[in-house]
Amino acid sequence: MASFSRSLCSSLVLFIIFLSFSEARDHLIGGKSDAWKVPSSESDSLNHWAEKTRFQVGDSLMWKFDGSKDSVLQVAKRDYVTCNTSSPIETYTDGNTKVKLERSGPYYFISGAEGHCEKGQKVIVVVMSEKHSRFIGVSPAPSPAEVEGPAVAPTSMLQT
Ligand SMILES: *[C@@H]1O[C@H](CO)[C@@H](O)[C@H](O)[C@H]1NC(C)=O
Repeated sequence: MASFSRSLCSSLVLFIIFLSFSEARDHLIGGKSDAWKVPSSESDSLNHWAEKTRFQVGDSLMWKFDGSKDSVLQVAKRDYVTCNTSSPIETYTDGNTKVKLERSGPYYFISGAEGHCEKGQKVIVVVMSEKHSRFIGVSPAPSPAEVEGPAVAPTSMLQT
């Protein structure tokens, strides 16, 4: 009986660890509340921060800024590169912005304040596919369908 409750307890601990890995997270852009501004240097850039951060489907991005002076524009790649603010996909001006990452792949954001994007106030967020993030996190036991499915090379998936 004692060993039964001990194993129950350890599976509960494993389950909680798994939850903490798979839980959707909120990412404050730049990691601090005043980060949505023209960066002071290359090493201070938002892309520098974004490259070190792991974004998963279901996570959210959060921005804090003065909505009377700035905005967040979600744009297409071409408009990100050229800092074209004329046709954003989405415009956020409330200064307390939250964007849920619903799909994997790149998201492009630029500042709507005049001249700011050209000075580097822009960020690319690349969201990993669900499959990929499962391999990095604590993975649950594979389902029978996955075991019987076509052979995959796990090492190549871990490297990317
Ligand atoms: C910005 O994008 C709009 C719409 O796509 C386009 O009409 C315009 O020519 C672009 N401006 C520049 C400077 O590229």
